[in-house]
This record gives sequence, C-alpha cells and structure tokens, in this order.
Amino acid sequence: MSSVLAKIFNQAEITFSIRNSDAYKQNFMLLKKLVDSLVFSDLNLNPILFSKAAFQVKNKAPCTFINLYEKQNSTFSMSIFIMNGNYKMPLHDHPNMCGLLRVISGQIKVESYTRIKSDIEDEILVKAEEPKILDELSASAVLFPENSNFHEITALNEPAAFFDILAPPYSDYNDSMEPGSRHCSFYKKIMFENCGKSPILKLVKIDVPDHYYCDSVAYKQPDFMR
Ligand SMILES: [Fe+2]
Repeated sequence: MSSVLAKIFNQAEITFSIRNSDAYKQNFMLLKKLVDSLVFSDLNLNPILFSKAAFQVKNKAPCTFINLYEKQNSTFSMSIFIMNGNYKMPLHDHPNMCGLLRVISGQIKVESYTRIKSDIEDEILVKAEEPKILDELSASAVLFPENSNFHEITALNEPAAFFDILAPPYSDYNDSMEPGSRHCSFYKKIMFENCGKSPILKLVKIDVPDHYYCDSVAYKQPDFMR
C-alpha cells in the first residue's frame, strides 16, 4: 500500500483531532499538500471501475461510491466517487464540515457557492464562485463551513473520479433529525441578483433528485486504517 495514503491518513488524524486544534491551520495545509500529491496508483483500485465500459453495464448507477474509511465517531471520512462522463452530481451541502477533493482520474468541473447573509431567517443566499476545472494535475479543491460549502460537480466528457476527505463525516442517516446533525441536503438555484461575475442565488431545498444514486464497491482497507 502506498505510503502517500498512509501519510494522508496519519495527517488527517492529526489535523482533525481536538487535541491539536491550536495548530489546525498549519496541519490542514500539510494535509492539503499531501492530498495534492495523491495519484490513482496510490489507492490500489481496479482500473476497470474507472473505465467507460464500467458505465455501459445495464442498470449501472451514474456514480460509484467507494467508502475508504469511516468509523463510528471518527473525526473524518475518506471516500472515492467515480462519475459517468457528463454526469452532474446535484447541488448539495456539507453542513459544518470541511473537505478536500482531489481528482484521481478524468476531468471534473466544480461549481462552488458560499453562503452570504440574508435579512430573512432561513433564506439561503449564496454567491457563485468562479467554476474550477480540475484534473490529476490540479491541486485539491477545499471547502469549509463558511466558504464554498455548497457545490455541484460534473464529470467532463469521460468518466472521472475524485478522492475526498470530509471532516467531520456526514451524520448517520438515522441521526439526521438530531440538532447539529450533518445531513446532506440537495438544492435548486433561483437567480436572486445578477451582478455580473459573481451572481447571487437563492437556494431552495429539494428532495434527492431521482437521477442521483450510487452503487458501491467494497474497499479492502490497508492495515493502518483498521
Ligand atoms: Fe460534496
């Protein structure tokens, strides 16, 4: 198993441990640097999963999800999403979470949105950021509770895949109604103020879009994750 993945795992444990909260910023930058260096071959995955042919199978979901690491009460999760070519993962959020996203195959477009203040309670207004096109040569994209926390992700032309770390992980679906839970919501966008380069949009919660579903592939965890 790649030592890069082991280093990332180790650095994620350090970064997101409450004991190290004083050095969070420095640790996060070290983690990002390591994630930026991760490549497909570090993950020991079957390349067929990432091929066009994998998505030509009858009844194949538009996304393949591989859960690399998540434990009960763990401070972070690691996973891989493989998306069919031209598939757009719908706009969603990561409440009170940080994240790093590193492309390991193909090319993706990330459209991120940052929440801004609204005079109306519960109204979600966001500022659109400049879309980013990312591939294996790009640095990882990051999201924080207050910045770039909403995004939609498109695989450009061919199937594309990204590795991500979320900290803390999403809550268990069963806990989704608990206060402070971190449940993924989906949104539609409504133009609120078109002021040129960074339009302001209003986001309205929607049900999980019918087109969005994943099938999953089991991952043989290396010893250091157990
Ligand atoms: Fe996401």
